[in-house]
Amino acid sequence: MPKLIVVTRDGEEKQVIGDAGLSVMEVIRDNGFDELLALCGGCCSCATCHVHVDPEFASKLPAMSEDEDDLLDSSSFRDERSRLSCQLPFTDELDGLKVTIAEED
Ligand code: FES
Repeated sequence: MPKLIVVTRDGEEKQVIGDAGLSVMEVIRDNGFDELLALCGGCCSCATCHVHVDPEFASKLPAMSEDEDDLLDSSSFRDERSRLSCQLPFTDELDGLKVTIAEED
């Protein structure tokens, strides 16, 4: 099963194992990172699953939808590495992916 490295808001880095087929948000949430609120449950309507993705993996991620782009625009902490983790399917290809939980708006 692929590994995911999660960096929390206080800079702590933890490695977890996730089921391919879940979203990156679900893997983070299911491993007890409660600072990732994911309030809408993955419907791409809340932006509380905002993460910054390691640029090394940018080319392996699916393209961003217009909805995701619009929602990310509502965050003051958006940067070029920003994605909504519920919109990122976790796959074997993403083994070793590193994401940092974004600051809370
Ligand atoms: S969980 Fe709400 S947008 Fe991702």
